[in-house]
Amino acid sequence: MNPFKFITFALLLPSIFIFGQSVEVNLSPDSESPIISKHIYGHFAEHLGRCIYGGFYVGEDSQIPNTSGVRNDVVEALKALEIPNLRWPGGCFADTYHWKDGIGPKEDRPSILNVWWGNVREDNSFGTHDFLNMCELLDTEPYLSANVGSGTVQEFADWIKYTTHPAGSSPMPELRAKNGRTEPWQVKYWGIGNEAWGCGGNMRPEYYADVYRRFATYASDWSNSGGMVRIASGASSSDYKWTEVLMQNIPKNLIEAIALHHYSVIDWGNKGPAKDFSEKQYFQIMKEALRMEELISKHVAIMDQYDPEKKVDLYVDEWGGWYDVEPGTNSAFLYQQNTMRDAMLASTTLNIFNNHADRVKFANIAQAINVLQAVILTDEEKLILTPTYHVFKMYTPHHDAQLIPVSFDSPTYEFEGQKLPAISISASSGKEGKTYLTIANIDARQTHTIEIKVAAIDVDKIDAKILTSANLQDHNSFEDPDNIVVQEFNNVSMSNGIVKLDVPPFSLVAIQAAK
Ligand code: AHR
Repeated sequence: MNPFKFITFALLLPSIFIFGQSVEVNLSPDSESPIISKHIYGHFAEHLGRCIYGGFYVGEDSQIPNTSGVRNDVVEALKALEIPNLRWPGGCFADTYHWKDGIGPKEDRPSILNVWWGNVREDNSFGTHDFLNMCELLDTEPYLSANVGSGTVQEFADWIKYTTHPAGSSPMPELRAKNGRTEPWQVKYWGIGNEAWGCGGNMRPEYYADVYRRFATYASDWSNSGGMVRIASGASSSDYKWTEVLMQNIPKNLIEAIALHHYSVIDWGNKGPAKDFSEKQYFQIMKEALRMEELISKHVAIMDQYDPEKKVDLYVDEWGGWYDVEPGTNSAFLYQQNTMRDAMLASTTLNIFNNHADRVKFANIAQAINVLQAVILTDEEKLILTPTYHVFKMYTPHHDAQLIPVSFDSPTYEFEGQKLPAISISASSGKEGKTYLTIANIDARQTHTIEIKVAAIDVDKIDAKILTSANLQDHNSFEDPDNIVVQEFNNVSMSNGIVKLDVPPFSLVAIQAAK
């Protein structure tokens, strides 16, 4: 990192950025508020492009330092994020995946074509044991996405038995032991299909609801995982009918969660570049990202109608920014760079999830490494952390903390006559008595002054960090891996029960307040 960059930025700030009006923020701590599930901070790893091969897994014979073929640098970086869960093996790939192809001696495993992602050869060298052992290494909970589109109920039931049933209980655990693992793994989260309305079988919701009921019936929980969670393949963005038909037709004893996928994309036919984008394209992506608020509210309203007791959770198990691939890379590999725009997308989305903690209990950004809005990019032995990685790091204090409802009138970020709320905030209270706030200013031009009334909470020490940069398009690269990093933020004052700070354009500030 250029050590002078932040200082230069701070000195220039008054002259180059326009200040908006002060934003008054009220905190309303409430002992009845929901806990922000740490699983909102989950990740996704599909057999797509270089996410698994080259990203997570390089094989035991690689020169790149690894543990059973899994890159050590990746394990270190993801452990620092305390990733709570990891979804695998897809995505669209999951509905073509036959798990028995990926067990036993690697040299005997069949090769298949990865038909969704470039027809490349998939040699199945990374399979069930490799994934579940990797989750243990990462200290994260696995979320297995089962093949409903082209698989059978028997295959699904066998996968559950193979992974979670006790040794000696049936042929599947015996096969597991023969393949080197006597003790079952803990697998609580099971996705029953993926995008069943599209790559997962092009089904109608009425038909999928019936298929789901059949698969869910045979998802027998004899495991040691403390209760299985069966996740129905959910709607795409604003397909509210999908959620309604599923909620209407799936009995509550067969479902624990329903999914939702929403990607922030300008136009599927013309997605625009990941790094050399215009302010117009930034505005369009932020508009799509902020739509998450409306999507969650409307899907939840439908769920409330059929499940007022909130027994079924909402899992946003795919979300993120989707742009054109980097020039010169395989268009089926979905490899894109990650800029301050992605940091704003991630922070506003995570604030929305936090603020809906009563129903949103789980989410997975797409995808962890080298694919779409990745937290990590690799190039052979090199690895960089993206601005999105740093956002996730700044949000770790919210994991399993109690939500503090916030209220404020956001100033607007205006572009070519259109308006978006400039400020996004979520707050929580941790077990150790600290209060956490994450404040994003998506405005591309204006600094906004924030005044937080903290009289209701016991605070006399403030620690603040900032993720910021001079240009929206700024990013980390293999040549300059620390161009964007989290920095200390001293521009915060406190007096008369009010914490005051100036949040620069397209910046995220994370505050920890303590007694
Ligand atoms: O994340 C990439 C793809 O997007 C997934 O495979 C699919 O579920 C979604 O359409």
